[in-house]
Amino acid sequence: MTRPPRHDVAVLGCGLMGSALARRFASGGLAVTAWNRTSRRAEALAADGVRPAASVEDAVGSTGLAVVCMSDVDASRAVLASASSLAGRTVVNLSDGTNDDVETLASWVGEQGASFLDGSTLCYPDQIGEPGAMVAFSGPSPVWARHEPVLMLLGGRSRHVSDEIAGAKELYLGCGAFFVTAMSGFVESAACLLRRGRTLEEVRYATLHGIEVLRHAAEEAAAAIESGQHDTDQATIHVFAEGARRALGELESAGVDLSVTTAVSKKLDAAERAGMGHLGFSAQALL
Ligand SMILES: NC(=O)c1ccc[n+]([C@@H]2O[C@H](COP(=O)([O-])OP(=O)(O)OC[C@H]3O[C@@H](n4cnc5c(N)ncnc54)[C@H](OP(=O)(O)O)[C@@H]3O)[C@@H](O)[C@H]2O)c1
Repeated sequence: MTRPPRHDVAVLGCGLMGSALARRFASGGLAVTAWNRTSRRAEALAADGVRPAASVEDAVGSTGLAVVCMSDVDASRAVLASASSLAGRTVVNLSDGTNDDVETLASWVGEQGASFLDGSTLCYPDQIGEPGAMVAFSGPSPVWARHEPVLMLLGGRSRHVSDEIAGAKELYLGCGAFFVTAMSGFVESAACLLRRGRTLEEVRYATLHGIEVLRHAAEEAAAAIESGQHDTDQATIHVFAEGARRALGELESAGVDLSVTTAVSKKLDAAERAGMGHLGFSAQALL
């Protein structure tokens, strides 16, 4: 019987993200095999130098490193369970789930005799491999050290964030909530401004500037939350609350759903009612 060729890495799950991971490993010079439940998505990667695997067994059996990227952790577990053995291998889970999901999967993988890292992609598929892309990993440092050169191919800002197995997911879920809220606010405000006749270039210029200011403000807010000191000599909650009320009044006429701005305004109103009007924005952490 012909033995399958050895691979440096197997990617299980060739959705939008899994395909990007497989392509990046291959362009980084690794021998890559990939399996997907719907086989045509794995087969499509052949043009990028990735060998499509006929089965999970075929993929996992030919490598010491399996990177799993599916819709959720349950799917990861179901697929990994169909391999005859994981013993001696390292599994890296990049499927989303809760902290509990990750801890349960890590225990199960350990019972199979394999090492385990968890991870979360804090970027889009088309950024994978770029210097500015980040995949956060967590789990035992010695396991990370063994696979760091391969996993760092996925993005220049990638890093091992914690030995706690759920550390990467926790960071991803928290920062993901921030990212999604910020993007929702942007979509809302951009739709309003464009409907009111502002140009795309005006919106783009002001927004990119706002993102720079946000970087500065976020660092200051994080330091204030850590120290518990919310006094400000820059801008008070009262000023932000007034601004949010004014924005709502003005932007309403655009006929765009303003749920995000409304929620922000309500929260600032509550902070004022709680006597925090003279403090900085970060004081809302005390609500
Ligand atoms: N896309 C992003 O920008 C992004 C960013 C951060 C994190 N993520 C996370 O990355 C993971 C993958 O996302 P994606 O964008 O690649 O999603 P996707 O394009 O929808 O792909 C989902 C993948 O999961 C597979 N799958 C789902 N259930 C399965 C099961 N029961 N058994 C076997 N395979 C199963 C699908 O196989 P089939 O092709 O056969 O359906 C497909 O390969 C998710 O956890 C997502 O939250 C994605």
